[in-house]
Amino acid sequence: MPDTALAETAPAKINLHLHVVGRRADGYHLLDSLAAFAGAADALRYRPGGPLALALEGPEAGALAAEPDNLVLRAARLLAEAAGRAPGGTLVLEKHLPVASGIGGGSADAAAALRLLSRAWGLGWETARLAPLAARLGADVPVCLDSRAARMGGVGERLSAAPALPPAGLVLANPRVPLATPAVFRARQEMRPGGFSAEAALPAAWADAGAMARDLAACGNDLEAPAIALCPAVADVLAALRALPGCLLARMSGSGATCFGLFETPAAAAGAARHLPSAWWRWGGGFTTGGRPLYSAAGEPAGA
Ligand code: C5P
Repeated sequence: MPDTALAETAPAKINLHLHVVGRRADGYHLLDSLAAFAGAADALRYRPGGPLALALEGPEAGALAAEPDNLVLRAARLLAEAAGRAPGGTLVLEKHLPVASGIGGGSADAAAALRLLSRAWGLGWETARLAPLAARLGADVPVCLDSRAARMGGVGERLSAAPALPPAGLVLANPRVPLATPAVFRARQEMRPGGFSAEAALPAAWADAGAMARDLAACGNDLEAPAIALCPAVADVLAALRALPGCLLARMSGSGATCFGLFETPAAAAGAARHLPSAWWRWGGGFTTGGRPLYSAAGEPAGA
């Protein structure tokens, strides 16, 4: 058993809707998005001693290199600098989430590193103190600090309360094609140079998964069309999700290529995920908050 004081989970971030509402002078896009977190996660452990190092393991580790610019190492160095200490120890990243796939794997890993090292180095820094460091690492890192559903504004770093999520199931599927976020934003800009969406109108809470799916159907992911233009396999994934029995809504997450399907329960989602092509990365289960399952753990990983 790993020492839980020196271990963290890094849950996948799902953008239930993503509207591009404007563009800053520096080219970054202003967003309105409801982010939630899946039971699918990477794991991060810490071993004290020695200079700062990163070891990679797990089924998706091959796609990643433990290079100095790895976001986990950048997070460690940034925290050490802010705390006025030398970075040290080995971070072991167990990679389960596909890389460059629109579910914030790298951002979740960086946020987990900030949380873990804050404890391991005896700093005891809470989210409020870590948030400015998180924002410097990437637009998606702040929302991953707490790993609970939040409404994202600004370029992603401005967080506000999310509608209370009902019990629901979630299927994730990725065609195993990496998509670079800047390329997808660039393609959106070429397709709709002056076209921006309005912010979504969402209620304070949803009674059930059906109500959530109906309201989300009135929103969209503005990066879906440009992602499909760059990676037509995204359209195949969406079609396959929509064809699964019990799928209430299918949409791409973030800048893709991972897509999600909403289901009534984690068990229904886990069962449905097994029908997807085994060549894809696929997972079925429920939402989580702060690394803890929100709903009964009826959903089990499928093919992950
Ligand atoms: O902040 P992050 O490293 O996740 O963003 C990667 C790239 O995605 C940025 O360099 C930018 O090109 C694009 N991006 C954007 N607008 C955002 C977030 C990201 O244009 N809100």
